[in-house]
Amino acid sequence: VQTASGVAHSKLILIGDHAVVHGQPAISLPFPLVGAEATIDYVPGSVKIDSTLYHGPIESAPESLNGITSCIRATLEHLDMPCEDLLVQIKSSIPPGKGLGSSASVAVAVIRSLFAYAGQDYAMEDILRLADISEKHAHGEPSGIDTLTITSELPIWYKKEAPTDLIEPKGDFHFIVADSGRMGDTRQAVESVSHLIRTAPKRIQSKLERMGELTHRARTALETASKHLLGQMLNEAQKELEALGVSDAGLNRLIYFARQEGALGAKLTGAGNGGCVIALAQNEVHSKQLCEKLKRFGAHAVWSFALRKKKD
Ligand code: MEV
Repeated sequence: VQTASGVAHSKLILIGDHAVVHGQPAISLPFPLVGAEATIDYVPGSVKIDSTLYHGPIESAPESLNGITSCIRATLEHLDMPCEDLLVQIKSSIPPGKGLGSSASVAVAVIRSLFAYAGQDYAMEDILRLADISEKHAHGEPSGIDTLTITSELPIWYKKEAPTDLIEPKGDFHFIVADSGRMGDTRQAVESVSHLIRTAPKRIQSKLERMGELTHRARTALETASKHLLGQMLNEAQKELEALGVSDAGLNRLIYFARQEGALGAKLTGAGNGGCVIALAQNEVHSKQLCEKLKRFGAHAVWSFALRKKKD
């Protein structure tokens, strides 16, 4: 009896959310505090899925799982394996619909586990292409940033159709991620921005370009260890996201509270209209304090994590 497994971490978009779908750059961070794991076992009969959302044969899976079921089928086809005799167990600690890349992380964990089960090595292009099949269902028009970040150990400078560029921070940055508790719908949020572009192309295009500039300056901040500049860029980006209509009352409440409690910057992360916020703390001690305060203020879940300068 064979068994194999695959894991994947989650992701955060630091800056450039939404603008990245329309050709602007974005910076994203691998987020190792939550992740997905898939295990494959030999079980005769049709391919079965075992997850918190569904337990049963792939053919009868609900429509909401179309992304992952199409991804499993495409991966098996790529591996030249029949779509049978497998049990795909999926576990994830990533809250779905919170901007943390849960769909991409589950897809990458499942693809890795199927390759391991088949005893085949994978090329990065295979993972990205196969995970994209699942992402198209979740996002409609994904930029590709989620999947790429989920397969990276370092922060990414991402621009559609440009080669991947890794960022090396020159200082330590302490972040807080807080969950507003409301689930977002990435597909809907991405479509609402596309709709705005169609109705007011010039005005929205200039906002997207402005977000691109902010992302450039945020990169400089990371590479010159300038926390204050980074904080300012996060706050400016949040203004643009609010103008695009993707920040809701729950997110704004956490963002303003974090700033009031001394965060150097705070904004939504991911598609918005539900989901999480990311805040930049002053230092490690402040990040722990802010975490506690946000919990008491009613954040659904809070994580603190550091982006650290690479040791020479
Ligand atoms: C979703 O995590 C980020 C968005 O920019 C969509 C995308 O890039 O695919 C909102």
